[in-house]
Amino acid sequence: MGRLDGTVAVVSGAARGQGRADAVALAREGASIVAFDIAAPLRSPLHPPATPADLEETARLVEAQHARCLTEVLDARDLAGLHALADRVHAEFGRVDTVVVNHGIWTVAEHSWTLSENDWQETVDVVLTGAWKVTRAFVPKIIDGGQGGSVILISSTMGEKAHPSSIAYTASKHGTLGLTRVLAWELGEHSVRVNAIMPGATGTPLATEGESIERSSKWHPRFYATDRNLLPVDWIPPESIARSVVFLASEDARHITGAVLPVDAGWSAF
Ligand SMILES: NC(=O)c1ccc[n+]([C@@H]2O[C@H](COP(=O)([O-])OP(=O)(O)OC[C@H]3O[C@@H](n4cnc5c(N)ncnc54)[C@H](O)[C@@H]3O)[C@@H](O)[C@H]2O)c1
Repeated sequence: MGRLDGTVAVVSGAARGQGRADAVALAREGASIVAFDIAAPLRSPLHPPATPADLEETARLVEAQHARCLTEVLDARDLAGLHALADRVHAEFGRVDTVVVNHGIWTVAEHSWTLSENDWQETVDVVLTGAWKVTRAFVPKIIDGGQGGSVILISSTMGEKAHPSSIAYTASKHGTLGLTRVLAWELGEHSVRVNAIMPGATGTPLATEGESIERSSKWHPRFYATDRNLLPVDWIPPESIARSVVFLASEDARHITGAVLPVDAGWSAF
């Protein structure tokens, strides 16, 4: 018996990294998975893009857990496409129980005033507006199901703390906590719980590839001098974030809503 048997979970940005780990962990607990990802390059991030082959690998790993997996190449900025996917999920699976708003990009510039307008706009569009659009499309399906559900938004330690070099990302991840709190307020009466996770430095291409960290630490050595995990770990594995996603999706968290959970090895504790 899995903790999520018979449920349906949607994961954005599921081609790799945390989204893939979330999809596999949710499937292991019995959920059917809807995994979507842009799986294409964006203009601004330094880290390399995910690919359609990455998304297919996620599907293979989910199916290895004996779970159904519907995949789609889809941009979280495309509200019409999200509505079409939500309708397709409803037609094929008959319900939506869990939505993990996980997709994201990270952009850096030495200073807030040297970031290009394009980089600002793309980051806010993907990270903040895209998060709202995913909830805009899928929350009505959870409400219509009448059985409650769980929405989990992936913010960041940058959702509560300043990170020099990352103005657009930091502002968008702060905004993600705003989305979480308003949605938790509005959805409580429908027994839909809404919570956020703030991952710390997690070992995925967003952080480990493309030199964003190298550049930021060169630009802002004073910040990085105090950037310390309390636990003796450099990188949190994506599977560790996924454990918290499963917890928040499950009945174990049935009385938790509007919460913000750091999974950051203690990074934000001081
Ligand atoms: N890695 C870290 O250190 C870290 C720390 C804190 C928060 N986060 C957040 O965790 C989440 C997952 O990131 P990750 O670490 O797994 O990085 P990742 O780059 O491995 O995965 C992000 C995925 O999101 C997808 N994506 C990007 N833009 C999209 C769009 N417009 N529509 C659909 N999919 C899109 C990418 O293609 C990619 O597959 C993100 O929200 C990120 O901001 C990451």
